[in-house]
Amino acid sequence: MLAGVSDIGIYIPKYYLSHEDLAKARGVPKEKYHIGLGNHNMAIIPNWEDSVTMAANAAQQILERNNIDPNEIRQLVVSTESGVDHSKPVASFVQGLLNIGTRCRVYEIKHACYGGTAGLVDSIEWISRHTNSEPKGIVIMTDIAKYGFGTAGEPTQGAGALALLVDDNPRLFSLDTMLNGIFSKNVYDFWRPTGHRVPIVDGKYSIDCYLMALEGAISHFRENLGLREGELLENLDYIVYHMPFTKMAHKAHRHLVEIEYRDSSPESREKIFEESFARMVAPSLTGVQEVGNIYTGSVYMGLVSLLEAEGERAEGKRIGLFSYGSGCGAEFFLCQMMQGIGRVVDSMGLREQLENRKKLTFEQYVQFYSKSGEEVLYYPEEAKGFKNKFTRFVFTGFQEHRRQYA
Ligand code: CAA
Repeated sequence: MLAGVSDIGIYIPKYYLSHEDLAKARGVPKEKYHIGLGNHNMAIIPNWEDSVTMAANAAQQILERNNIDPNEIRQLVVSTESGVDHSKPVASFVQGLLNIGTRCRVYEIKHACYGGTAGLVDSIEWISRHTNSEPKGIVIMTDIAKYGFGTAGEPTQGAGALALLVDDNPRLFSLDTMLNGIFSKNVYDFWRPTGHRVPIVDGKYSIDCYLMALEGAISHFRENLGLREGELLENLDYIVYHMPFTKMAHKAHRHLVEIEYRDSSPESREKIFEESFARMVAPSLTGVQEVGNIYTGSVYMGLVSLLEAEGERAEGKRIGLFSYGSGCGAEFFLCQMMQGIGRVVDSMGLREQLENRKKLTFEQYVQFYSKSGEEVLYYPEEAKGFKNKFTRFVFTGFQEHRRQYA
């Protein structure tokens, strides 16, 4: 049996701004956001939450649902590009909040939006070497995507965290990491120099880099599976792309079809694109349409969206995931879904969290995002009022330069 993932916890902040309101305030037609980018709402994170609380809130769900004693966790990896300290890893804060024991490898990992996949591959390979002791690991992707007021990236903002339970008897999917198609190259498409609050983006170039990485990763993946050009789609049931905005999945899939069927006529390629996009890609779009970009967790939120939409239809299916991180690094890999996944999928709770969100006005959004994290200070008693079924941990400010959580 290959190692893999047994459960996924997802955490989405409970506030959002509609793209209709953002478009009105920015003086652009709402169609640019709804059709051009494909997004409808974006998650807004209040300043009593951060990458630590979102990570802990996502991971707490899988500990509870699977009745796991935190001491059983032997590896805890947190991937983020929204870290809270240059030295102390987000993973250590999470270890403390979740009461995970001392006999556990705990570290933070970074490679823009791709870092979570690097952590997942590492954890699966680590678990595979421990077949006798039923080892368990947690890989978390947690991020806050903020580009700044009035920037081109503003309508692609979002926030959220995913936590994946990795073990050697996976109930959700297995992953043979030796088949993964890899691409990496040193480029400057999206970066955040030390000390900068928001990233610097070469927007159009970043899309070109994404497509270049997709092409490279696909070609390697095909080689590993012994497939020829044009044979990829028939060997997969679904594809989930990294989605900084919804329309990126269209651009990516169109590019994949162009590569796979380069000798076909444009009309025939268009037909293949339309049919395969609706069947293989569309079920994964709900999260990004409603939440926006969550960087490291983006492709995994796409997977949760797909599983919630398809339910038992996804049993036994082959799902290709494309993970991309600026800078850049990418991997295309195959998730072999298990049978009997219904109970795991039913408790993931993405839809429930989306249905229970509160809509902010544009003015409230500006107020939320004008304050820096350092200005926050809540008394632990007051902070308890912000908690609910999914929000178990909140950030209450600093004491002697130490972050405080309740
Ligand atoms: N009706 C319908 N569509 C409209 C429209 C209207 N009234 N007005 C504009 N559009 C369409 C445009 O035609 C365009 O569509 P195509 O891309 O299909 O041509 C789309 O809306 C966007 O319009 P612009 O190209 O004018 O948009 P922009 O200049 O405002 O920037 C962006 C778009 C580059 C994606 C910008 O949002 C950005 O910089 N985002 C952040 C970077 C990013 O997400 N890069 C993606 C790859 S990198 C990555 O994946 C890593 C990561 O997570 C960051």
